[in-house]
Amino acid sequence: MITTRLNINGATVFAPNDILEQSEKSMDKAYQQIISQNGAGSEFLGWLGLPEEMSDSEMQRITQIAKSFQQRAEVVVVIGIGGSYLGARAVIEAMQGHFEGLHKNSDFPTVLFAGNNISEDYLFDLLQVLDNKEYGMVVISKSGTTTEPAIAFRILKEHCEKKYGKTAARERIIVITDSAKGALKQMATQENYETFVIPDNVGGRYSVLTPVGLLPITIAGYDIRNLLRGAAEMRNNLLNNNKIENNIAMQYATFRNYFYQNGKKVELMVAYEPRLYYLIEWYKQLFGESEGKDLKGIFPAGSIFSTDLHSLGQYIQEGERLLFETVISVEKSHHTVAIPYDEQNMDGLNYLQSKSLTEINHTAEIGTRMAHIDGGVPNLQILIPEICESTLGELIYFFEFSCALNGYLLSINPFNQPGVEAYKRNMFKLLGKE
Ligand code: PA5
Repeated sequence: MITTRLNINGATVFAPNDILEQSEKSMDKAYQQIISQNGAGSEFLGWLGLPEEMSDSEMQRITQIAKSFQQRAEVVVVIGIGGSYLGARAVIEAMQGHFEGLHKNSDFPTVLFAGNNISEDYLFDLLQVLDNKEYGMVVISKSGTTTEPAIAFRILKEHCEKKYGKTAARERIIVITDSAKGALKQMATQENYETFVIPDNVGGRYSVLTPVGLLPITIAGYDIRNLLRGAAEMRNNLLNNNKIENNIAMQYATFRNYFYQNGKKVELMVAYEPRLYYLIEWYKQLFGESEGKDLKGIFPAGSIFSTDLHSLGQYIQEGERLLFETVISVEKSHHTVAIPYDEQNMDGLNYLQSKSLTEINHTAEIGTRMAHIDGGVPNLQILIPEICESTLGELIYFFEFSCALNGYLLSINPFNQPGVEAYKRNMFKLLGKE
């Protein structure tokens, strides 16, 4: 059973009463394109079955390698960009405490990320950290030819070999790439690095439930069985409910598409929990790269509230009416922090003293939703009971499925990204690459 719920009350007021019935036919067509695997890019539908396909031997290898890193590394650097790091980062940052890096006694290595930018200072700072830490690295690239991770790997490999010696460094490097092609695959074969394969039929941004996400998440100490279990629950739910009234991905896609067709070109994905920041970054990549083509597509934006209510809040309330909002709402926090009673009450906060911070955060959410709806911003709410591996698994599968549905509704291929090549062509030409 899934625990995720979709609340459409803040959206229905902006759409016809029979919006779900109206879109039944087009939604059914899009749904069938996924299920029957006959839509554009259907050779990349491998993600559909991932929650239930992990073999025992692959699971064991992931656990074993994670253990060996946990025993000898304080830091593990995950090198990758786009779909080759965002999924892992989304889950790790959602699961870990906000100040995890400052806890000295963790049983698990700190997972750091590299290869997702070309900043010299970023790599310099990272190398300084690695000078003084025991470390290992996981290099991830499906194509095996992406410039950003390739640069980072070349620099970190040299650092690692100098620090540990060539033979010992080999034991500290894991490669996740294509089964046959790409420079990274060739290097892995030549250097005899331990390697995991990204299945041919799974694209980068849909790969978090392959070793691309699962290995770093296990290294960081989180339970991938529960992550996969949550994703499997969502999969069963969405595949067994082919009618729009019972299928939350179809409902979500219906409203997204309706708002888009009616001038709401931007979806603002919001969370009131800062630890969901990278889940929103992952969502931005998933939807942005999948939908944004052929001069179509919703622009996926993200915000953490109430933080951004003090920066973007004014625009959302009174600026141009081009937004709709989707809020990931977390019902329970993991911890409690009491607001102390103060005799003098100079800050006037004693009226909050009997309330929990979570209650206050939820009240901020309710008040904001009311204000934004009044201001003409439709609101969709995705509710999860708490942040844990299984609810994150549910959300991952829910967003992947919804994204594919929305792509087919827009008659585009949700699984390619031809536009990403444009900046690379210019950069390579300017750099004089042959
Ligand atoms: O979703 C995608 O396919 C892309 O965002 C890729 O993940 C990203 O470009 C990195 O590619 P690669 O894994 O080939 O290095």
